[in-house]
Amino acid sequence: MPSNRYLSIWENGAFFEERPQWKGEGTAEAVIIGAGITGILTAHMLKKKGIDCILLESGRTASGQTRHTTAKITSLHGLMYDQLIKDFGKEKASLYASANEEAISQYASLIKDNGISCHFEKLPAYVYSTDDLLSIEREVEAAKECGILASFTDKTSLPFPVKGAVRFPEQAQFHPLEFLSVLAKSLTIYENSRVIGIEKDTVITKEGKVKAKHIILTSHYPFLITPGYYFARMHQERSYCLALKTPYSLDGTYKEDKKDGYSFRRFEDMLILGGGGHRTGENKTGGQYDSLRTYAKQYFPEAEEKYSWSAQDCQTLDGVPYIGQFSDQTPNWYIATGFHKWGMTTSMVAANLLSDMITGKENPYEQVFTPQRFKLTASITSLLDETKHSAVGLVLKKLKPVPQDLSAINPGSGRVIELEGEKVGIYKTKENQIFAVDPKCTHLGCQLEWNEEEETWDCPCHGSRFNYDGTLLDEPAGEPITRREFHEESPEAETIL
Ligand SMILES: Cc1cc2nc3c(=O)[nH]c(=O)nc-3n(C[C@H](O)[C@H](O)[C@H](O)COP(=O)(O)OP(=O)(O)OC[C@H]3O[C@@H](n4cnc5c(N)ncnc54)[C@H](O)[C@@H]3O)c2cc1C
Ligand code: FES
Repeated sequence: MPSNRYLSIWENGAFFEERPQWKGEGTAEAVIIGAGITGILTAHMLKKKGIDCILLESGRTASGQTRHTTAKITSLHGLMYDQLIKDFGKEKASLYASANEEAISQYASLIKDNGISCHFEKLPAYVYSTDDLLSIEREVEAAKECGILASFTDKTSLPFPVKGAVRFPEQAQFHPLEFLSVLAKSLTIYENSRVIGIEKDTVITKEGKVKAKHIILTSHYPFLITPGYYFARMHQERSYCLALKTPYSLDGTYKEDKKDGYSFRRFEDMLILGGGGHRTGENKTGGQYDSLRTYAKQYFPEAEEKYSWSAQDCQTLDGVPYIGQFSDQTPNWYIATGFHKWGMTTSMVAANLLSDMITGKENPYEQVFTPQRFKLTASITSLLDETKHSAVGLVLKKLKPVPQDLSAINPGSGRVIELEGEKVGIYKTKENQIFAVDPKCTHLGCQLEWNEEEETWDCPCHGSRFNYDGTLLDEPAGEPITRREFHEESPEAETIL
């Protein structure tokens, strides 16, 4: 049987004790939905401010994207500040910068004050370019304008020359699960407790209900369709990572200037190489790990591959996370999402901001991150792009001709075929075993795409993912896709209930 869940470098290094499932009815001052880094940090801050809360987690604690991060703690989020100033003005861009810089200092104090041993290390962060000097120079100036001690350099510890790099001093990296396993110990968490709905002040799971004054969604991509309409203003992007055992040393963390570019950091005797970014649902032919491996061979020929894994994160329309009140109609619901693959600092920003909002303390960063903002200038191109992708997923696939012949599918591959007028997602294992599913996403019904690389069915609309056998892997969908019985000799698929 193929396996498609790759272990990240962090997964052997931390232990989370098992927690019970939420059953029956109860009350709490605050309920947090999702125990990833955002949920855990928010619960920690709320507890410090005297708010009693419980976390409801659909799987195990920290079993979401946080488990697969590269855990660079930095306010250098790609090339961002020049664009932020253009879209939001210098004042808001500076607030974005200081919110994230403060988050780095907070990690340092939290780790020190609680004696947490989690490989936390201060070091500079770089964004480099191999071909675009101008953008790097512009970013250095923009970051300085926003109050960061940024500098330009063309000397890096990377194994190839660069045109230039932005350097931020006093950034950091750590082992995220070692950190969270300590913080989680003192929190009230219920595992295997997927939230399926919220009604006013009541959170509903399959097994029970919790009534709460404050409800906080930290479930990564929100599973609710209305209110808030987050599905119309967010999608997900995946990236791939290799951990390579090599003595090659780096003086900081590195990220290429391009959206799908490379990323580098060290952890103990390994170098973590990331790259291959793409919109979830757009990896039909695979090859992302292979191209990372080819790249690794070129620059680190002696390195030995120890781990390989992938993950995805939510992308907002204007590049700034949504942190604040969930919607105008729900004053007691809060959200933190859309971290653009920079959720280490922005989850800390969220924990501060949401706990301040709940305890009635003013927070200067509310105006930057509020999900109720809508900057047409910054958002319109992305909004049109979102609409286009959803339209393709929902409508055009219905019109596209699909092959009807099972022999068109090679062993080890999958695709959607048409059987007796109905579309069926077929995966043929290397041993010719067939897994058939209904290739329709259980979130909003988009047609799923086969992901050859990870043997999964991925949704191009908002990024839900399902295993080859239909099991749900990633939200926003909350239900598996329907598995079908399949008989090759008489090719008709019937639903397994
Ligand atoms: C390849 C990659 C590398 C990255 N590297 C970095 C980096 O170097 N630095 C950085 O700052 N950021 C990085 N990021 C981004 C960062 O990892 C994420 O932004 C962050 O981990 C998101 O945390 P979260 O708590 O919001 O989500 P998650 O960790 O996914 O937590 C959400 C939790 O909610 C649970 N859940 C979902 N639905 C429900 C429900 N209905 N009911 C109950 N529970 C539910 C899930 O099971 C999950 O445990 C990277 C991202 C990727 C993809
Ligand atoms: S994730 Fe929204 S339709 Fe699939």
